[in-house]
Amino acid sequence: MRKKATVIGAGNVGATAAMRIAEKELADVVLIDILEGVPAGKALDLMEAAPIEKHDASVIGASGDYSQAKDSDVVIITAGIPRKPGMSRDDLLATNMGIMETVTKGVAAVAPDAVLIIVSNPLDAMCHVAYNASGFPKNRVLGMAGVLDSARFRAFIAMELDVSVENTHAFVLGGHGDTMVPLPRFSTVAGIPITQLMSQDRIDALVERTRNGGAEIVGLLKTGSAYYAPSAAAVEMAEAILKDKKKILPCAACLNGEYGITDLFIGVPVKLGAKGAEQIIEIELTDDEKAALNHSADAVRGLVEDLKRLG
Ligand code: APR
Repeated sequence: MRKKATVIGAGNVGATAAMRIAEKELADVVLIDILEGVPAGKALDLMEAAPIEKHDASVIGASGDYSQAKDSDVVIITAGIPRKPGMSRDDLLATNMGIMETVTKGVAAVAPDAVLIIVSNPLDAMCHVAYNASGFPKNRVLGMAGVLDSARFRAFIAMELDVSVENTHAFVLGGHGDTMVPLPRFSTVAGIPITQLMSQDRIDALVERTRNGGAEIVGLLKTGSAYYAPSAAAVEMAEAILKDKKKILPCAACLNGEYGITDLFIGVPVKLGAKGAEQIIEIELTDDEKAALNHSADAVRGLVEDLKRLG
């Protein structure tokens, strides 16, 4: 029997994630949105593409009917409002907090064994909301940020050096925001650290572009935020879980003393398998890197405090 994945939010990120899951035939997909008709329409459209794309995964849409998500193995939550030009991810906090709470409760009641992958922004704070609302153990609540941030860094490295993206590997820690911590010494091309392939100035420029990767796209699109790379990143995490791959990917996970941080969702390397976050990989950081991670953790803590005030 095929696995089952539910995607909540049938907007740009959610519908594209549903498409990628179906086309890779990773699972049958349920697409849920608050809007009438939209999830059913997009699901039917995807089913009609199946003969051409050659997959047999089913895709169904449901408007607010969480019973369809029953016993899902993985749930990707993209419900919320996206950023508009001039808005930071943090500006979304109050609105998306309410939405995240409602949808998490709805899905946790019918899919009590699922692994949740949170995509809605501000990401790290939304992971806290989903964690509290679901009552799930820490290993089954993860946030998608690091895979996207490191994919952006990898794309920029490949463009800079005119090499295949497949040769690139990038390492990003921290929150999904201006304080994210790309680690150049662990970012490589065919195993060679980029610190040996580029000047510090060029590395700094790529790091800066990575930090602003989301805003760069919002500035171009004007009416929404990025969705091709975010959906690809969420589906890479879903695939690792659905196939129990034990793949190490940078994800937002709730730390329990690792990196000297407790009870906070923040981006770290995580081993992903059927149980969700099966291990948090701790690496030795330099003093500067530690300071940057702590700075990022402080920013996330600030948002979690704001959540408490709003809640
Ligand atoms: N229940 C279900 N779906 C909801 C709810 C809710 N309570 N509230 C909003 N939605 C749906 C909207 O109807 C919309 O279809 O969430 C969808 C969001 O889709 P888009 O507006 O297209 O936003 P998208 O670009 O997909 O981004 C979604 O991901 O990257 C983050 O910052 C981004 O938080 C945003 C999220």
